[in-house]
Amino acid sequence: MIATLKAEEASQLQLVEREDIDDEEDLFESIDKLISAGINAGDVKKLQDAGIYTCNGLMMHTKKNLTGIKGLSEAKVDKICEAAEKIVNFGYITGSDALLRRKSVIRITTGSQSLDELLGGGIETSAITEAFGEFRSGKTQLAHTLCVSTQLPTNMRGGNGKVAYIDTEGTFRPDRIIPIAERFGMDPAAVLDNIVYARAYTYEHQYNLLLGLAAKMSGEQFRLLIVDSVIALFRVDFTGRGELAERQQKLAQMLSRLTKIAEEFNVAVYMTNQVIADPGGGVFISDPKKPAGGHVLAHAATIRLMFRKGKGEQRVCKVFDAPNLPEAEAVFQITPGGIADAKD
Ligand code: GTP
Ligand code: MG
Repeated sequence: MIATLKAEEASQLQLVEREDIDDEEDLFESIDKLISAGINAGDVKKLQDAGIYTCNGLMMHTKKNLTGIKGLSEAKVDKICEAAEKIVNFGYITGSDALLRRKSVIRITTGSQSLDELLGGGIETSAITEAFGEFRSGKTQLAHTLCVSTQLPTNMRGGNGKVAYIDTEGTFRPDRIIPIAERFGMDPAAVLDNIVYARAYTYEHQYNLLLGLAAKMSGEQFRLLIVDSVIALFRVDFTGRGELAERQQKLAQMLSRLTKIAEEFNVAVYMTNQVIADPGGGVFISDPKKPAGGHVLAHAATIRLMFRKGKGEQRVCKVFDAPNLPEAEAVFQITPGGIADAKD
């Protein structure tokens, strides 16, 4: 792919220089705007301390949530919401405007054309893509490839944005980013600088890291959030049978946060999931497996992908559930330069 880059395209790769990632269009209104709408700066600061950085984000909280913030009375919350509603339209829009909003959705290349085609162009912003499948099936390798491709300019099927990576399994390998960046003709140091990475150790830590992202995402253009894996810590932190209901409730809370981040900042969320044995899978399936997380996870993901191993370095991705994609498969390959098309 790199060999075929035209000089003009290659020069655009300079865009990934840290300072050069600039907002194409402000899709969200900063919470600071409330100050000119008559809300006092101290109250705006309280919202920011609670992880709310945009008017859009504010409208994604219930009044009960907001009055739970220390120092915000019900009367203050009413005044804040009234002011925010004047800044952002959260009511009905026409179908044409909805179409216009959909146009801000970007599709980010996976590095494999056949996988991109299966996904209708790549990993979508403003949506959650879940990948589940057996170990070594390529879920984390795709995460690494997306860390790089997201930083490509949009006319090269990238997202022209930064990447946030939450790692619950300790499998992020920054050294893997280098050959992948080189494959795409990008400067590895600049690419690594545009990834913010955190290792999470408990499900609470994982949730708090998500809260902290709003501040970063409202300040700079992010286009991808990776959570690898979304469920591992929940399975470790809630082990007893009697804890399942609580686990699912906390998981739902975290997934709702992911949905809001995706929509608020027009970011693609790529989360990986583990598989568990499925005794109800049927006697004709030798090793029946299903994604972990039950209905809670199934409902949160916009697009669910199932990965499995093929021959050698080849991997197969099947669309498991997606609102507007056919149930089909694509074969890709894991290479030193990341995910690519299978050779034969
Ligand atoms: P779990 O997290 O264990 O569930 O698996 P996963 O689906 O995340 O697997 P992962 O994406 O880590 O894929 C691991 C596979 O990628 C292994 O088969 C590795 O051999 C392969 N792999 C990793 N790095 C390279 C590389 O540089 N070159 C090639 N060709 N393969 C690699
Ligand atoms: Mg993995």
